[in-house]
Amino acid sequence: MRSPGPTFTPRLLRWYDKNRRELPWRRPAASDAPLDPYHVLLSETMLQQTQVVTVIPYFHRFLERFPTLNALADAPRQDVLRLWQGLGYYSRARNLQAAAQMIVRELNGQIPTSVDELLKLPGVGRYTAGAIASIAFDRRAPILDGNVQRVLCRLDCVKDDPRNREINQRLWQRAGEILPSKRIGDFNSALMELGATICTPRNPQCLRCPVHKHCEALAAEMQEIIPLAKKAVPTPLVHRQTFCIRHGNRWLIEQRPASGRWAAMWQFVTLACEPPTSENAVRLPVETSPPQPLLRISHTLTHRRYRFEVFTCDAVNDYSPVDVNPRRWMTLRNLHKFPLPKPHVKIADALRQRR
Ligand code: ADE
Repeated sequence: MRSPGPTFTPRLLRWYDKNRRELPWRRPAASDAPLDPYHVLLSETMLQQTQVVTVIPYFHRFLERFPTLNALADAPRQDVLRLWQGLGYYSRARNLQAAAQMIVRELNGQIPTSVDELLKLPGVGRYTAGAIASIAFDRRAPILDGNVQRVLCRLDCVKDDPRNREINQRLWQRAGEILPSKRIGDFNSALMELGATICTPRNPQCLRCPVHKHCEALAAEMQEIIPLAKKAVPTPLVHRQTFCIRHGNRWLIEQRPASGRWAAMWQFVTLACEPPTSENAVRLPVETSPPQPLLRISHTLTHRRYRFEVFTCDAVNDYSPVDVNPRRWMTLRNLHKFPLPKPHVKIADALRQRR
């Protein structure tokens, strides 16, 4: 691999200074006040697998409720999950709070500045450690997220699959080699920004690219086919039946197990339904009237697709037996106090609209 040359960094940084988006976790263009490392930890955690536009309102709401690491460390976990509701990948929220607790209790409230120390925090992997070290502390640490990976593959005309372990290792090494000696955080942010706005997966805007002269993929007219596209792997379809059980103006919700998908969040009574069947051969926690179909919801996650068949029914006997943890009778009005997976937020909306 050849060096990108001495003009690469100045071109990239000049472009970044002029064109970067003002984002709430970035230092304003006119300021050189240091960033709060907690804000960087929070934003980089939220930005894992999630787009900038989605993260912005969550970032504001989260900081309003938990303005400091101490506030986050001391908060009830349900409150943290509630503020994460809709962002998905909820283990990020649990790990973030565990990291805050570790920093407050064991590290004197100071977020570590080195990649090795950052990697000891729950939920902090190589990417997040590099991002915090470089962006919050200007440490000489590389980052490689999806955007940077694409930029580097194109710069070096990497024709192999970047998801391959060895190629990925090589790209991490490359991300380290090209780091400048100053403005490391800005350099890394600029690479991400370039990938997000110019060097996009489809229709890259090479004419507007500040470093197009350094791009080997462009020189070979291969920018559209590099990086190698991911083979589409069909994900399994999982069937669930959800029963919205009403008693008066309240609905039965249950807490999910403490581990696994949507851990410790709340939901309407939901049962696995494999193989899918239209018969109601299910055992509900209370006796009910015959369930009536309400709607069907499809929900796609990275590794599986869900189909929820949703029913409503009324509890027919007195409602005493289930009014204990982890089940509750709850009015729709009070449901917002509980963290719900997205499909159940949609179900609650449908129930509200029906009234
Ligand atoms: N994606 C991941 N980290 C980011 C950051 N700091 N700014 C913009 N997009 C990002």
